[in-house]
This record gives sequence, C-alpha cells and structure tokens, in this order.
Amino acid sequence: MWVLPVLVAIVATAEVKGTPEPCGCSSDPLGDVARVATLAKGGLWLDAGSLSYNPEELSPERRPQSEAKAAALAHIYGRALVGLGADDLALGPKGVRGARQACNVRGMALQSPRVQTINGVKIGVFGVVTPSRVAPLKAAEPVPAAEQAVKTLRKKGAQVIVALAGMNRLETRQLLKTVAGIDFAIVGADVGDGMEEPEPVGTSWLAAPGDLARYAVKLDVSFVKAGPPIVQFAGEAARKRTLQKAQRRIATLQTQIAEWKKDPTADKAFVSARENELAELQEQQLMMGRALPVMPPKDSNYFEYELVPMRHTIPRDPVVAAELTRLAHTIGQVNLAAAKGKEPMPAEPGAPTYVGIEACGKCHKPAVDFWKTTVHAQAWKTLVDVDKQYNYDCIGCHVTGWEKPGGVNLVTVEKRKLVDVQCETCHGPGSKHVEEAGLDEPRTITRKPADRYCADACHTKEHSDTFALVPYLRDILGKGHGEKARARLGDGPTGGELRKKALEAAGR
Ligand code: HEC
Ligand code: HEC
Ligand code: HEC
Repeated sequence: MWVLPVLVAIVATAEVKGTPEPCGCSSDPLGDVARVATLAKGGLWLDAGSLSYNPEELSPERRPQSEAKAAALAHIYGRALVGLGADDLALGPKGVRGARQACNVRGMALQSPRVQTINGVKIGVFGVVTPSRVAPLKAAEPVPAAEQAVKTLRKKGAQVIVALAGMNRLETRQLLKTVAGIDFAIVGADVGDGMEEPEPVGTSWLAAPGDLARYAVKLDVSFVKAGPPIVQFAGEAARKRTLQKAQRRIATLQTQIAEWKKDPTADKAFVSARENELAELQEQQLMMGRALPVMPPKDSNYFEYELVPMRHTIPRDPVVAAELTRLAHTIGQVNLAAAKGKEPMPAEPGAPTYVGIEACGKCHKPAVDFWKTTVHAQAWKTLVDVDKQYNYDCIGCHVTGWEKPGGVNLVTVEKRKLVDVQCETCHGPGSKHVEEAGLDEPRTITRKPADRYCADACHTKEHSDTFALVPYLRDILGKGHGEKARARLGDGPTGGELRKKALEAAGR
C-alpha cells in the first residue's frame, strides 16, 4: 500500500550576526527575521549559530545597541533551536543570549540534544562546533561527541536527525563523512550567500543558508517511515530554478550577441559558438516548459530543497514585526542615554566647522531652494519614519558632519540643525567661508567633490545599488545649483529614474 507521506518543513538561518532586518536603502533589500518567522510557521525553525553579534559592531559606542539587538533576537528565536557560533561568543560565554546547542562544548550552560515533534514526525537536533572556533571555551573532538548525540537522539525516538554545525562547509563535510546517521547538517560558519543546492555526503545532506538572514534554507521533508535514507526530490521548485537560470543566460547571450554582431572586430568563431549555446538553451527551455510534472518517489523519504531569498514578497510575521518596531525604539533610547553629555569631536585649531544650511541660505538662496526639492532633503525623515534616527547603523549617511572634526554626534545633530544631507556634506565645513562672506582666500570650501567621493562616503554597493555618478549628479544639480555643470552633463537617465526602474523590477 502506498503510504501518504507526512510533510515537515525545516527552515534554517545562520550567521545572522545581530542583523534582524536589512537597512532598506537598496532597491531590493534581502533579510528580515520577521519574514523568516513566516517561513518557519508550523515547521521546525533552526539557526546554525552566530545569531547574536557582529564582532565589528561592538565598539563602546555601538555596544548598547548591539546588546539590544542580541536580546531581541534571542526572544524572537525563542521557539527555534539554535547552534553556537564563533560570533555568539564575541562578548564571552556570559554574553551569549538565548539557549544554545553545542554537544562538544564545556564551560557554559547549553541545551542538550532535543527532539521536536512536527506533524507527528520526531526530529532530533544537536549542535556541534569546531573547537578552535570557540576558544578559549573548551570543546571536545566533534566526531565522538556527534556520534554520542546521534545515539542519544535515536534512543529518544528521533526519526530525522539534523546537525547545527558551528563550522565551515569543509569541516561539516568532514564530519558527515565520519559520523553516520545524520540526515542533514546546516553549515553555521563562513556561509556567505549560502548554497543554491544541497550537497550529498554519503546518505547525508549538507546545506547552508546565507548570512544576515538574507537567505534561509528550506527543507520540505516528506516522511514515510523511519529507516531508509532521505533522498532529494528535485521537484517543481528545482525545475523552476533551472528554468530561471537558463532564462537569465539566454537574456545575457541575446544582448551580447547583438552587440558582437555590430562589432566588426569580434571573433567570428567565438560568436558562432555562443549562438550555438543560445540555440541549445532555447531548445532546453522549450522542453522543460513542456515536460510533465515530475512525480515524487513512492514509498521513500524525500525532501525538496530551496535557498529562499528573504524578499519583501514574503509577508512579515506580525508578532515579530511588532517586536522589531519596539527594538528600533529601544535602540534609540539606549543610544541617547549612553551618549548624554558626550562632546562631539572638536575641529583642529583654526580649521573650519560645520554651520548648517541656514547660514548658506543667506547668500545662496537659489541653491538652497533647489536642494529642498532633492531627496537629500528627506534623508533624515526617512529614518524618523522608521524610528531609526538614533541608530548608529543608520545615522552617519543620513545627516551632515557626522563624527567629523567640528561636526556632530548623537547629542548635537538635531540641536545644531545638521540633519539631512546638506551642502556641507559635499562642500565641506563652511564656518570660515561664511565668516569671511564667501571671500575666504585661499578657499576653505570645496567647489567640487572628488568623483569617488559619493560612492565611497555613502552611495556604497550595499546602500545604493543603482548608483552611477553622472545620472545621480543630474538630480542634484539644476536651476540655482551648479546649473552650468548640469548643462554639461547633458540629457540621459537620472538617478531617480534608475531607482524607479529598479524598484519596479523588484516589485516594490
Ligand atoms: C555671506 C555670503 C555667503 C555665505 C553665507 C555662504 N557663501 Fe558660499 N559663496 C559666497 C560667495 C561670495 C562665493 C563666491 C562666488 C563667486 O566667486 O562666484 C561663494 C562661493 C561658494 C562656492 C563655490 C566655490 C568656488 O570656489 O567656486 C561654494 C561651493 C559655496 N559657496 C558653498 C557655500 C556653502 C556650503 C555655504 C554654507 C555653509 C556657503 N557657501 C555660505 C558667499 C557666501
Ligand atoms: C553607508 C551609508 C548609509 C548607511 C549606513 C545607511 N544608509 Fe540608508 N541610504 C543611503 C543612501 C546612499 C541611500 C539612497 C539610495 C539610492 O537612492 O540610491 C539611502 C536610502 C535609504 C532609504 C530610502 C530607500 C528608498 O527606497 O527610498 C531608507 C529607508 C534608508 N536609507 C534607511 C536606512 C536605515 C534604516 C539605515 C540603518 C539601518 C540606513 N539607511 C543606513 C546610505 C546609507
Ligand atoms: C550631493 C552633493 C552636493 C550637495 C548636497 C550640494 N552641492 Fe553644491 N555642488 C555640488 C556639485 C557636484 C557641484 C558642481 C561642481 C562643478 O562641477 O562645477 C556643486 C556646485 C555648487 C556651487 C558652485 C556652482 C554654482 O551654482 O554657483 C555652489 C555655490 C554650491 N554648489 C553651493 C551649494 C549649496 C549652498 C548647497 C546646499 C543648499 C549645496 N551646494 C549642496 C555638490 C553638492
């Protein structure tokens, strides 16, 4: 008789590193544990370690907000099973927030291997780490400890076994080669963008999510009976992935071939080889479009794998979303409290300081009026709207003179009216120029920022994926502000247009 399989969803993250949400600056931001929570609803929620901290965000200034994030993440992941990663120990064993699994680690309170029952299927979970990654904590050899954990879990009735590996892919693969009985191992260190496909190691499977909650691993396990290994079923999801990959390659080839055809110097043999590749891909695409849906294997345990990008199209879990709203507020409160009475960095003796846009307006009114129509005049409001204006992850690029000599800090930025991306962000501190009524000699104000300036200072790849200097300059220059320079740039796409296109492409 054909037994209908029971479906169990396993969802895993790793190396979230104290990043519950993405910044939201780029056109298609990835991440957000409120979306992970939605994905994990009704299934088994796992994290393979380094959930709490990013060691680079633990300077005395940033430590309070990093601790607030770690505490919130521990609460949000309260119903998940979580492994121990190197970055969790950035503040020592006492700084670890929430229950952790690491069967070979000694010297801190840890959760023992757990069995969770999902839809009647018993899933055993244990953590194991590479000892050097958790030094100075003591850790035993991973292999015997993992073997013991598997035994314990089987005794408790576990039908599927998952390892949360506080180790990189190579080390995890090594573990799977030696230790029998692990069905899935989730890599927890150096995961980067994660693994698009799972990797078989004997009868076990290796999987890796992407860091910062950008990509979650989703294993849809169809369980029939305990015993036989779980095989991969490249079902609908995998078919779609292959199809999409082919479509992307087809699109690239079509544009490239069109360009090469216009170029008399292009190598004919090379172009014709690419044309053949294109034809083959188009054929393959047709076949895949026509193929009948693949049937899942009968009478055996199988799983489907997906590396899910955490896009805005996945709804946010309302409870977690509310928690993140509270976290944003808490971060502001703890930062303001810790910054109280702190002086901003003074300017070198005789060097100019930041004075703010009101001063510029006395003599450059047309420039100020024009600036008010640009998005730079909204940069602060953008943060206020999400209650992140006192967050050290955000404020630096959304205000003027941030932590610069003669500039502002958290305490002074509003009082001194240096919110938004004002004139002095690009032209430099203006006090001397203003004092000398614009006749400062030699000039203390920069006429034209260096070409690399915008991209290096604020419009980085992570925060401004659509940035290109000339189109963006077309938006910030115009009537009353660098009108001649604007005319020299000529017609062409503007930054706003590039951005709009990218937002549309992302479905936002
Ligand atoms: C008291 C009047 C006054 C104030 C206030 C003032 N400027 Fe000027 N600014 C001038 C004058 C005059 C010039 C020179 C115009 C010229 O030579 O064409 C000038 C020139 C400039 C230039 C072009 C420099 C160059 O070398 O061509 C920039 C940039 C500039 N100002 C920015 C600012 C900024 C930013 C502020 C506010 C911090 C500011 N100005 C405040 C009067 C002023
Ligand atoms: C390194 C500089 C930098 C940091 C840090 C930064 N931003 Fe931004 N942010 C930008 C830039 C540049 C843009 C404009 C992007 C563009 O239009 O190309 C932007 C745009 C935005 C937008 C508008 C997006 C839109 O679609 O209009 C939001 C919202 C935002 N940032 C929020 C944040 C938050 C929240 C943080 C902190 C978690 C943050 N930013 C940290 C540079 C930064
Ligand atoms: C995002 C960067 C940026 C901001 C913000 C900015 N500028 Fe400029 N500004 C430029 C660039 C770029 C030029 C053009 C330089 C060139 O190519 O000649 C320029 C040119 C100028 C000039 C000389 C040309 C002219 O029109 O007289 C003045 C004066 C000036 N800016 C004043 C201001 C003032 C005042 C503000 C604030 C209201 C401001 N700028 C804000 C980047 C900026």
